[in-house]
Amino acid sequence: MKQRTVLDIQKMKVDGEKIAVLTAYDYPFARLMDAAGIDIILVGDSVGSVVSGYDNTLPVTMEEMLYHTRAVVRGTQGALVVADMPFLSYQVDLRDARFNAGRLVKEGGAQAVKLEGGTNVAETIRAIVAMDIPVVGHIGLTPQSIHRMGGFRVQGKQEEQARRLLADAKAVEAAGAFAVVLEGIPAPLAQEITAALSIPTIGIGAGVHCDGQVLVIHDILGLCEKYSPKFVKRYADVSGIISEGIQSYITDVKEGSFPGPEHSFK
Ligand code: KIV
Repeated sequence: MKQRTVLDIQKMKVDGEKIAVLTAYDYPFARLMDAAGIDIILVGDSVGSVVSGYDNTLPVTMEEMLYHTRAVVRGTQGALVVADMPFLSYQVDLRDARFNAGRLVKEGGAQAVKLEGGTNVAETIRAIVAMDIPVVGHIGLTPQSIHRMGGFRVQGKQEEQARRLLADAKAVEAAGAFAVVLEGIPAPLAQEITAALSIPTIGIGAGVHCDGQVLVIHDILGLCEKYSPKFVKRYADVSGIISEGIQSYITDVKEGSFPGPEHSFK
């Protein structure tokens, strides 16, 4: 299977082909979505919320991101793997940012990194791109800014905020990002940004007019009951299947019907 490159992803925008993106944090999920033909696998710092049980993404460390990125890369042949830069891995200074982006590529095996912010991180994006590491931007509802935003709130509803987001998107593109995630913004604004940029926009809670869509795998499979945002479409109830399986195992053990002769050695 030929592995997708950033050039393939950019060509999809030119060709009008939608880009399908999902998050993954481990080998089995990466294998399944890769075999299904996903275009990009994002090793998101959402791992903190949906796998590690943190309240938000802020506690996620570089070591955690490296561990999950390596597992995903081992399960991937065709998809482009993008790894999230966790909070505090790029905000303090450019040296940190370059070093940590390099670690995600060198030690994690990712082909690209993603970081949150607009005009305020343009210089950081430029510095990482100058190391030949492809960067995905991320603007709008940026979970690492949860305390500034006062929670997970749709961004860009007011005209002034919308203008700022358009400027952020242009700054991210001008800094050299090859794609940008638009999260939690009104659909008409996402449409305007998508038309204004030559790089692909990947939406999450940003309507249908983006060049691609990304969702968290645990959300679409019903694996995370903590909260379910309006923009998530649930494609399966995997929690129900897992609970049933676990319940049946417990019952079998308690009743002595497992292991049977077929599971035992003579
Ligand atoms: O961390 C993540 O999973 C993300 C996506 C939701 C865009 O950043």
